[in-house]
Amino acid sequence: MNKHLLSMADLSLADIELLLDTAVQMQEVQHRDVKKIPTLRGRTVINLFFEDSTRTRSSFEIAGKWMSADTINISGKGSSTSKGESLRDTVLTICAMGVDALVMRHSASGAAHQVAQWVDAVVINAGDGTHEHPSQALLDAYTIKQHHGRVEGLKVAIVGDLLHSRVVRSNLISLRTQGADVTIVAPPTLMPSGIRDWAARDGFALTYDFDEALAAGPDVLMMLRVQRERMSGGFFPTEREYTEGYGLTRDRLATLMSRNERAVIAHPGPMNRGLEISPEAADAASSVILDQVSAGVAVRMAILYHLLAGEGNVQ
Ligand code: NCD
Repeated sequence: MNKHLLSMADLSLADIELLLDTAVQMQEVQHRDVKKIPTLRGRTVINLFFEDSTRTRSSFEIAGKWMSADTINISGKGSSTSKGESLRDTVLTICAMGVDALVMRHSASGAAHQVAQWVDAVVINAGDGTHEHPSQALLDAYTIKQHHGRVEGLKVAIVGDLLHSRVVRSNLISLRTQGADVTIVAPPTLMPSGIRDWAARDGFALTYDFDEALAAGPDVLMMLRVQRERMSGGFFPTEREYTEGYGLTRDRLATLMSRNERAVIAHPGPMNRGLEISPEAADAASSVILDQVSAGVAVRMAILYHLLAGEGNVQ
């Protein structure tokens, strides 16, 4: 495994399988009364978040704490970057204190790669702009495996604001590496540029027609958030029209379940209820959205374990 986790492309199929297998052991710790193992005792992990986060930041923090690491959170807003300090000076300052790992989220695509050139610490990309979010793709794969027993050969449809989504980029690499049959769905204005070439090269399908993708009876339907904070112009006429074309409405939920009764609905969160996903779908028996959150802790424990503890038994 590479020293850092910057992109899903850093991981081979064997690496992904190893991380997911370790996460199964870590999930056992998650279910104990006393959630503490000594694996990362004496290690210091800094969560450096320049963008808002609920799930990712707290699950990295919990993961580190359960493994006995010292974890500290620094948010962009409360740090000296708001006084004009450069990103390079900020990370060099933090790392000068003796830090073992930097879990980083930043609005600039490529920020984690850049930081990895500057510091000796292990760098984990927790989301860089619209580029990648590898730990999310790993926890998605974990959740899919929990429900379907495998990823290989499954039909996965990913629907929503793909243009602004680092989750789709990491998932396309992850799911194709694991042999899933992937279709991405978005309105033309929210498809990333150059996606047709990428689709042809990496062997996934794309369509602008959500109902066509549903008719194929996907095993996994991954809904992605409309990222209004990254939108400067009008990417769709009105919210109502977006929902009509691309929302997982109650009717579409019924279609999905009639086509494939084993289908599961995933969403990385945070959700815009009523826009890309209806409350009925978010709370449906087939929704695995909270399972994704639980898996997030176990998967992030596995990531910290392999990057920081070295090999050996999970205690
Ligand atoms: C995603 C992110 O931040 O990229 N959320 C997450 O990590 N759970 C997706 C999103 O913001 O829509």
